[in-house]
Amino acid sequence: MKVLSHFFALLHYLSIYVVSVPTPSNDVDINPYPTKPRLTFRQDGTFKITVFSDQHYGENPWDWWGPEQDANSTRLMKRVLPDEKPDYVVLNGDLITGENAFKENATLLVEEVVAPLNELKIPFSTTQGNHDNQVNITHLAEIKREQLIAPLSYTRIAPPGVGGDPEQGPGNYWVPIYASKASRSPSLILWFFDSRGGFAPANSTNTSDPVEVEDWVHESVAQWIEDEVALMDKAWGPSEENRAALAFVHIPP
Ligand SMILES: *[C@@H]1O[C@H](CO)[C@@H](O)[C@H](O)[C@H]1NC(C)=O
Ligand SMILES: *[C@@H]1O[C@H](CO)[C@@H](O)[C@H](O)[C@H]1NC(C)=O
Ligand SMILES: *[C@@H]1O[C@H](CO)[C@@H](O)[C@H](O)[C@H]1NC(C)=O
Ligand SMILES: *[C@@H]1O[C@H](CO)[C@@H](O)[C@H](O)[C@H]1NC(C)=O
Ligand SMILES: *[C@@H]1O[C@H](CO)[C@@H](O)[C@H](O)[C@H]1NC(C)=O
Repeated sequence: MKVLSHFFALLHYLSIYVVSVPTPSNDVDINPYPTKPRLTFRQDGTFKITVFSDQHYGENPWDWWGPEQDANSTRLMKRVLPDEKPDYVVLNGDLITGENAFKENATLLVEEVVAPLNELKIPFSTTQGNHDNQVNITHLAEIKREQLIAPLSYTRIAPPGVGGDPEQGPGNYWVPIYASKASRSPSLILWFFDSRGGFAPANSTNTSDPVEVEDWVHESVAQWIEDEVALMDKAWGPSEENRAALAFVHIPP
């Protein structure tokens, strides 16, 4: 049943259409991706996001069904993506079954998960889930690997002090979407929050037991959102009139 439920979790992909709103231009550019392609709405005013969640790569690598399930997931992505032709893809957490991962090669699984996106050159980003924080893998390790091997990854790491433990909760960031290549300010902000969860390796000499990590977004993120929005408002005008927002998080509040 576990095999099937995970396979169907992947099948449960979702498309979101957002309608663009006109934007005023401004001289200050706080776009955090100066070297990456600017993400824009289509000419017809739509922006299509395809979401995959709970892919759980690397489950039971010592059984036949784990690797076969991963091959099936990759096959599904390679079938869905050319069909949907999304403008952006979100992998919304539990990319890896961390509790079945090996320390020496756990992040290789990240390469496997994002391979279809690299191949088809689709911009994307990820959130991490409770299964991505385990003894042999952390959210930070996954994000660093992704940034290294995926040229069109827009995943970023929160500034120091934001998100709780920097290993288990760093995936808080935002991605601006512009009306057109020429727009000075974005009309949509995609927000990504790290809901932590899972386990951290034992951090006390008294025990070898892994430590459970709180499975919600760390309170420091609230102030960070306010600070970021204040920056955006200053650069691009008040949010209410100028920008829509859409948020992604693995474990919702
Ligand atoms: C992989 O996909 C094939 C064809 O759809 C299916 O028969 C098989 O059960 C799947 N394997 C797993 C482990 O889900
Ligand atoms: C972590 O990786 C090590 C080294 O491969 C392995 O021996 C150990 O069983 C793994 N631990 C867990 C909890 O999976
Ligand atoms: C990692 O190493 C283990 C143990 O040697 C192996 O079973 C597994 O397939 C490897 N995983 C990857 C992604 O290379
Ligand atoms: C161990 O980690 C937990 C969870 O991150 C933390 O609350 C606790 O303070 C840590 N304990 C020590 C001794 O570092
Ligand atoms: C370790 O155990 C000792 C003795 O039970 C206790 O006094 C101490 O507070 C423990 N330390 C931690 C970090 O849990």
